Amino acid sequence: LFCAGAFAAFETMPDHVMFGCCLVVFFCLLRGCDGNCPAMCLCVSDTVCCSSTGLVKLPMFLPTFSMTLDLSHNYISYLSAGSFEKMPRLENLRLASNQLTSLGEGVFQNASGLRILDLSSNRLHVVEQHYFHGLWRLEELLLYNNKITQVESSTLTGLSSLKKLYVSLNQLTDFPFFTIQDHSHPFLTMLDLSSNRLSSLPWADIKALPSLVQRGLYLHNNSLVCDCTMYSMFWHWQLRGYDTLKDFTDDHRCTIYGERRATITFLRHTRFFQNCTLEKAVSQPVTVYLSTVTVTEEETIHLDCHTSLKSMDLSFTWKTPGKGYLTPASINDTLITIFPNGTLEMQSVRVNDSGMYVCTALDVKLGVNATREVNVTVSLPPPESFNTGYTTLLGCAITMILILMYLYLTPCRCSCCKQPKPPSKTIPTYDRSSFSSAFTASIREQPQVYSDKHVAFLEPMMSQQGLHKINHIDFLLQYIVRRNNTLGAL
Ligand SMILES: *[C@@H]1O[C@H](CO)[C@@H](O)[C@H](O)[C@H]1NC(C)=O
Ligand SMILES: *[C@@H]1O[C@H](CO)[C@@H](O)[C@H](O)[C@H]1NC(C)=O
Ligand SMILES: *[C@@H]1O[C@H](CO)[C@@H](O)[C@H](O)[C@H]1NC(C)=O
Ligand SMILES: *[C@@H]1O[C@H](CO)[C@@H](O)[C@H](O)[C@H]1NC(C)=O
Ligand SMILES: *[C@@H]1O[C@H](CO)[C@@H](O)[C@H](O)[C@H]1NC(C)=O
Ligand SMILES: *[C@@H]1O[C@H](CO)[C@@H](O)[C@H](O)[C@H]1NC(C)=O
Ligand SMILES: *[C@@H]1O[C@H](CO)[C@@H](O)[C@H](O)[C@H]1NC(C)=O
Ligand SMILES: *[C@@H]1O[C@H](CO)[C@@H](O)[C@H](O)[C@H]1NC(C)=O
Repeated sequence: LFCAGAFAAFETMPDHVMFGCCLVVFFCLLRGCDGNCPAMCLCVSDTVCCSSTGLVKLPMFLPTFSMTLDLSHNYISYLSAGSFEKMPRLENLRLASNQLTSLGEGVFQNASGLRILDLSSNRLHVVEQHYFHGLWRLEELLLYNNKITQVESSTLTGLSSLKKLYVSLNQLTDFPFFTIQDHSHPFLTMLDLSSNRLSSLPWADIKALPSLVQRGLYLHNNSLVCDCTMYSMFWHWQLRGYDTLKDFTDDHRCTIYGERRATITFLRHTRFFQNCTLEKAVSQPVTVYLSTVTVTEEETIHLDCHTSLKSMDLSFTWKTPGKGYLTPASINDTLITIFPNGTLEMQSVRVNDSGMYVCTALDVKLGVNATREVNVTVSLPPPESFNTGYTTLLGCAITMILILMYLYLTPCRCSCCKQPKPPSKTIPTYDRSSFSSAFTASIREQPQVYSDKHVAFLEPMMSQQGLHKINHIDFLLQYIVRRNNTLGAL
């Protein structure tokens, strides 16, 4: 009956949701109803869904066993202390698109199991330091699209499991970067501060951020002030090929002398920074392209030194397994060349030339380098192909000997055995060019013998059209069949 009622009530819901709902209600009845599903919500196994239900405050009773609570797209403007303390298994709390302007003390007390907390698209102003106190398991914190002007400096303290923090689309003018360190937030890989009002940032603090955080730091669409310190930071990130810059190249803008009208997309128009002294690079290697080349002995290899460095003025050094370091100036081997573009050419490579070839491209002006590694494997030519060639050659030689023997050593040398001459018209129709050059050569040496010998075997073949198409093997076979007596003697 209850299920029927539920079906009637949620006629528009998908079947499986209703089925799940009924199951939950059924189990709930069996277990003595330790959590009530609020009338306007949908409760499915461990999930309570109250989104878009017009709630203005948290429902009085919520199922205590739920792990996911979705309250998004409502009108909740206030959460009291301990709102979620009766939900010890709560991991995923969705409060997006509500009317929250602030959070009181202890809202999330006894909810330390939270892993995902979505407070996006609310009206929060200041993220106070007590907001997320005790949420040491929190992995994702979504605060984008609020009206946040300030994140208090110890807000992130204690959020030691944090992986992703989204504070995009707010009105921040600064951010406490210094509170993020390797040991305090070891798993943080995403810090989205894009589309705020950041202008001058503490670049020294940002430079000290763990490299995982730097790799996932989004700062585009802010009103940064163009200066060398700022550019230097982005230049290094660009050199390291971070996606944060690649994906939003045109959204990285800065204002010259803070003048709002003079805005440049600084990753594209670098002319403004031409007088900046960019600090010597980065402790870690810039980019390593790894590739493999497989060739057989005696071939020529071309290994290109294409790296992340785009300058036209690079110097190249190749480290080779057999010949040590090679530069264009140091080579005295005629088989090896390094082209101006860094490409290494090695002619007739040997098996012992195999190994790892490492090219270092050095931008002398900027003092950065990048490497490219190529794993070269030189193998011996496959033995079968050699054998096949050899066998064919041997076969040809034997055939030649047989034919020469036939031509010169036939027992029938006396004039009495000569066969009568054929009608003269058959000779011109014979196409000599169909024979291999070897045959032709031997035949031409003895034109007399040739015409004499062939009369006997050519004559019957004249009846066939397209004699010239017969290849030399057929020719030989015909020959053998015709003169098998003689061959038998041979
Ligand atoms: C909340 O946690 C405190 C200690 O941190 C504990 O004393 C209290 O009983 C808990 N409340 C609930 C409802 O579990
Ligand atoms: C840039 O930020 C402004 C607000 O600061 C926002 O309205 C706009 O949508 C953002 N643009 C992009 C491309 O994110
Ligand atoms: C760079 O220095 C040159 C020579 O000192 C100067 O003419 C030029 O305006 C400077 N460029 C910028 C962008 O400051
Ligand atoms: C490789 O072998 C060739 C002879 O086969 C020899 O001349 C050359 O020095 C060897 N190279 C190395 C690096 O051992
Ligand atoms: C190349 O130069 C080195 C010394 O720089 C010399 O020992 C070697 O014999 C030279 N090799 C050839 C092939 O000229
Ligand atoms: C480098 O130059 C050589 C010779 O000019 C050319 O054969 C080769 O394709 C070039 N390599 C690249 C990657 O441009
Ligand atoms: C390349 O850069 C690294 C680190 O900056 C440095 O240790 C190394 O000596 C440089 N290599 C060359 C060939 O300049
Ligand atoms: C290079 O390639 C060979 C064969 O593909 C492989 O056995 C070897 O481990 C590779 N070396 C490196 C350093 O990757």
